[in-house]
Amino acid sequence: SFPLSSVRTIALVGLMGVGKSTVGRRLAARLGLPFADGDQVIEEAAGMTVNEIFATRGEAEFRAGEARVMKRLLEGSPIVLATGGGAVLNADTRALMKQHAVSVWMRADLKVIAERVGRRDTRPLLRNRDPLTALNDLAKARYPIYSEADLTVDVGGGSHAQAVEAILKQLRRFGR
Ligand code: S3P
Repeated sequence: SFPLSSVRTIALVGLMGVGKSTVGRRLAARLGLPFADGDQVIEEAAGMTVNEIFATRGEAEFRAGEARVMKRLLEGSPIVLATGGGAVLNADTRALMKQHAVSVWMRADLKVIAERVGRRDTRPLLRNRDPLTALNDLAKARYPIYSEADLTVDVGGGSHAQAVEAILKQLRRFGR
């Protein structure tokens, strides 16, 4: 475990389907920190699913709400935070993350992600598209931003349990 003085929020970033929510929940349990899922907080605040927000209000309005939720969570007490894949597109969110959190980019091979999300996915940015093509487009735009995270952890292919261990190992090295 870590000295209390070094406890900060751990913000998981990366593309949809890398396991931020599942891994984040387990990581929080291991670290004894509360867990929050950005998308879920947005859904509760809006009384709608992310898909419904995209469909009825549009992406821009979703992003504005997402930024407000990120601000509130990042300025609060330390948690493990699973962010939506697009949360770091917002410059204010990135600045708050730098200020208040240790950010961890969960990175996986796009084929692995496509395989995982292709089966069940209804996410608005993938709808009606070939998952691998859509993910490639997102990666091109976002990898330069994700790569600014404090830590990068390759989680591709492995189990969620392995991803948790890999993140814990890097956090220890980082001296969170
Ligand atoms: C998005 C990712 C989703 C959700 C929304 C937009 C994105 O979150 O916020 O569909 O822009 O990458 P997850 O990364 O939790 O799937």
